[in-house]
Amino acid sequence: MTVAVVIPAAGRGERLGADRPKAFVDVAGRSLLEHAVDGIRPVADLIVVAAPTTLVEQVRSLLSDVEVVAGGDVRQDSVRAALALLPADVDIVLVHDAARAWVPVEVSWRVVQAVRDGADAVIPVVAVTDTVKEVESDGAVVRTVDRTSLRCVQTPQGFRRDVLVRAHAAGATGPSATDDAGLVEALGLTVVTVEGSAEAFKVTTPFDLEVARALMTSRSAGV
Ligand code: CTP
Ligand code: MG
Repeated sequence: MTVAVVIPAAGRGERLGADRPKAFVDVAGRSLLEHAVDGIRPVADLIVVAAPTTLVEQVRSLLSDVEVVAGGDVRQDSVRAALALLPADVDIVLVHDAARAWVPVEVSWRVVQAVRDGADAVIPVVAVTDTVKEVESDGAVVRTVDRTSLRCVQTPQGFRRDVLVRAHAAGATGPSATDDAGLVEALGLTVVTVEGSAEAFKVTTPFDLEVARALMTSRSAGV
């Protein structure tokens, strides 16, 4: 089965607040996007990156073996633009955040395998380790949530291509759609989980970037 990886990389990175879009922030001499592409290449027959409109040409020259398309205003639009480029022979699509640059390849293989085994949609997850509370808008605690059935969701998320295309066609667009599996859930289909990894964390805040840089430094020192 042919596996395509779609990488939405067109976000502004407002919470990170860097001097450039988040996917282009440097860690150990390479952009987050390049690290993310390197990590997922082993499972991909082809890769499509959705880049900020002004940086499409730059991504083409940085990454000669990927297709590049201009992304949209919200993540879902960026994914949709990349999906439109997929050739007819693609059966499985993985959607992977450029901001998750250190996903162990075993996680990506687990996702691919679960789709090959017949799942419509697959997400990597990790347990919630903090205590979780529901609060009022003023911060007052309403209750403590039982975390045993809660999971934090990562990428790459894997899909049968036809299911993902249908989910995106049916899904309402907007900033609330933060993952693709949610659109499949909205179709009433089952989304299955596989084990994710702490290393699949997303660089969202300046602290996350510090963690990413420390991780790279200790890895290159063989620690
Ligand atoms: N993304 C995208 N197109 C958008 C918005 C987001 O391709 N219009 C991508 C980001 O580049 C990122 C991934 O979706 O790789 C996850 O989104 P997020 O972590 O929220 O990144 P940003 O939207 O860039 O960050 P922020 O929300 O802090 O502005
Ligand atoms: Mg965002």
